[in-house]
Amino acid sequence: MENKRTRIVAGNWKMNTTYEEGKDLAQAVMDRLQPSQVKVVLAAPYTHLRIIHNMIHGVNNLFLGAQNCHESDSGAFTGEISAAMLQSTGVQYVILGHSERLEYFHESDELVAAKIDQVLRHGMIPIFCCGEKLEVREKEEHLQLVASQVTNGLSHLSQEDFSKIVVAYEPVWAIGTGKNASPKQAQDMHAHIRKTLAGHFGNDLAQKTSILYGGSVKSSNAGELFSQPDVDGGLVGGASLNAEEFVKIVTGD
Ligand code: PGA
Repeated sequence: MENKRTRIVAGNWKMNTTYEEGKDLAQAVMDRLQPSQVKVVLAAPYTHLRIIHNMIHGVNNLFLGAQNCHESDSGAFTGEISAAMLQSTGVQYVILGHSERLEYFHESDELVAAKIDQVLRHGMIPIFCCGEKLEVREKEEHLQLVASQVTNGLSHLSQEDFSKIVVAYEPVWAIGTGKNASPKQAQDMHAHIRKTLAGHFGNDLAQKTSILYGGSVKSSNAGELFSQPDVDGGLVGGASLNAEEFVKIVTGD
C-alpha cells in the first residue's frame, strides 16, 4: 500500500445467489468488514441491487456494483438493463468488458467502449476489464493484445472521463481456474497497462488510475499480488461468494 492510488477490492458475484442468499452474503460481509481505506464493491445480480443498496448505504467504504449494462438509453431491448436503471437503484460501479461477456455474449471492444460512455454519462464508475487468453500468452502476444483492448476501450475518452475509470486486468486463463497469475506476471502486465494509459492520457493520470488484478484471487495469494507496485487491489469472483474469505482478501489477513 505504498502508493497513493485508491485501493479497491470488488466482488463479482456473477450469476450466483438467490435473492435471500444475496442478502445474507451482503449482511455477512458487512458484519465482518472493519472500517478501512480499501473501497469494497459488491457487484451483485440485478435482482439484488436495490435491497443491497438499502443495506449498505452509508456504510464506510462499501459500494454497490453491477456486472453489465446496455449501451442504449432505453427502448425495445427485451431482457436488457440500462445505465439509468442501474443508477436509479443506487449502483456506483459497473463491471464492463468482462471476458465472460466477450466470450459468451460476443461483446466487441467497440461495444464495450459504448457501454463505458453510457455508464459515465449516468455518473457511475466503469470497471473496465481486459486480459488475454492462454493461447495469446503462449504466443507471447499478450502485451500487444491487452494494449489494444485498453486502446480500443478507453482511448476515446476525455481526460476528465478517463480520470474516473477503474481498470481490471484479468488473464482469462486465471479466471475460475484456481491458477492465478504470479505476482510478477501481474506486476509486469499492470506496469504495461499503466504505460499504455500514459501514452493516451499522460503520466499523471495514468499514475492515479487504480488497476485491479482478477483471476483466482484468494486470501492465500491476495497479499502478495496486491503488494506489487502497480496492483491496486482486486476483482474477485469465486472467493467473493464466501464472506469470510472475501473480507480476508480485503483486509489482507
Ligand atoms: P475468479 O473470477 O476470482 O473466480 O477467478 C474473477 C472474475 O471473473 O472477475
